[in-house]
Amino acid sequence: MTLPAGPKTPSWLLNQKFQADPFGYMDAVYKRYGDMVTIMSGSTPTVHVSNPSGIKQIFTSTKEISARGALNRSFALFTGNQGVLQLDGLRHKHRRKLLMQAFHGERMQACGRRICELTEKIISQQAIGKPFVAYSAIEDITLSIGIEVVMGLREGERYNKIKHLFACVFKHELSPLLQFVRELPFWRWNLGQWSPTGHLLHQRQELFELLYAQVQECRQQADSSRTDILSELVLAHDETGEPMTNEEVRDLLISPLGAAQGASATALAWSLYWIHRLPTVRDKLLEEIDRLGKDPDPMSIVTLPYLSAVCNEILRIYPTQLFAFPRLVESPVEVMGHEFNVGTILIANIYLTHQREDLYPNSKKFRPERFLEKQFSAYEFLPFGGGARVCIGGTFALFEMKLVLATILSHYQLALVSQRPERPMFDGLLCYPARGVNMLMLGQRQRQRQPQHLITDSL
Ligand code: HEM
Repeated sequence: MTLPAGPKTPSWLLNQKFQADPFGYMDAVYKRYGDMVTIMSGSTPTVHVSNPSGIKQIFTSTKEISARGALNRSFALFTGNQGVLQLDGLRHKHRRKLLMQAFHGERMQACGRRICELTEKIISQQAIGKPFVAYSAIEDITLSIGIEVVMGLREGERYNKIKHLFACVFKHELSPLLQFVRELPFWRWNLGQWSPTGHLLHQRQELFELLYAQVQECRQQADSSRTDILSELVLAHDETGEPMTNEEVRDLLISPLGAAQGASATALAWSLYWIHRLPTVRDKLLEEIDRLGKDPDPMSIVTLPYLSAVCNEILRIYPTQLFAFPRLVESPVEVMGHEFNVGTILIANIYLTHQREDLYPNSKKFRPERFLEKQFSAYEFLPFGGGARVCIGGTFALFEMKLVLATILSHYQLALVSQRPERPMFDGLLCYPARGVNMLMLGQRQRQRQPQHLITDSL
């Protein structure tokens, strides 16, 4: 086996360098080693691939390369042991199908107006002239939407507690001092409720108990008028035809809720950052949205071409998930001229693929037009991964992103507090803006001009 070349730096130092500057470090590694790079973790080679042909092979050679749930064990603390991320084989396929069916088009359409309403409600609470952290406001929006769509909860004590606990357990650390302290070994010691890790585990336990209680209640009080995903899941059967247990249903709920709170909020926080750094992009977006007139139908917003291109460009330039989940070589396989032995880990590197100059000329430039000029394949543009573990919420995430952005931009005037570039920070899964994007609420937006179709109508 000839492994692709890679840095010989000890893994602890490599991690430090990566944490300090994730994008800069990956750019440097790509420049030095190219499309495939091997990083050793102990005696296990992990090969990062950023060539579309290689990525296609990783996602489609399902006989030789698997998407083992065991490789995602480190996330089980947050997702539970029976979440989709932890499963493989038939069970994994079956649970994915259940969740994907739950995010069907009709349900999405039905929640479009509600996404706009919740966005309006939460953003209108920001005081004029006072800075606020965009990530926190956006997380409030995406988590509220997630809890409502997935669990059917809108308000009340349990809703508030679940929302609060989700935000605590899945929290991104926005304070630079705490970001540093969390890297120190003592942070991970469980010394009971008063130690940071002990407290986190206690909150996680409380969250899991509340989710379990909600599943139990939903099962006991079967209500045919409910339209949420949980009420569908409690009636579903597992791959052997048996009803699923309450724990199984609970664990199945956690990934979508965690993704709504984490991945979607991160993508939207980066969106506000990019759009407000680039006035021409913001003006073009507003021109397109304004053309729809007052209170447009959500379905007409999601088909806007420039808005779609902006969302794609945000997910290209700063993909929220830098890597697809790891894949395992199960039997010897050749990928782009390299023979890989059983046990090698292969990773589709989303960030590096999105930075390729041959695919995205002038790749560091934020340029949505590239998505209007060219169609990219699923192995060239892959913010939602691919193959057996491709994101189940990709369509919903884009739908939500567009509606939240259109609502905020068309109704409010916001500005970045500082033009200083926002530093990316990696939390083991997502790459989020380290300071959370500090913004200023300038007030309600006055529409600049008449919508075009009204002018035409009056002629
Ligand atoms: C902008 C927002 C989002 C981004 C960028 C994103 C990205 C991703 C990526 C890159 C993967 C890994 C795919 C792979 O390994 O090939 C993934 C998996 C997953 N995503 Fe998302 N995601 C987003 C939002 C969501 C939402 C809203 C949901 C739920 C409704 C969701 C649910 C999941 C689940 C359950 C998996 C694991 C699938 C499996 O293990 O089979 N994601 N996502």
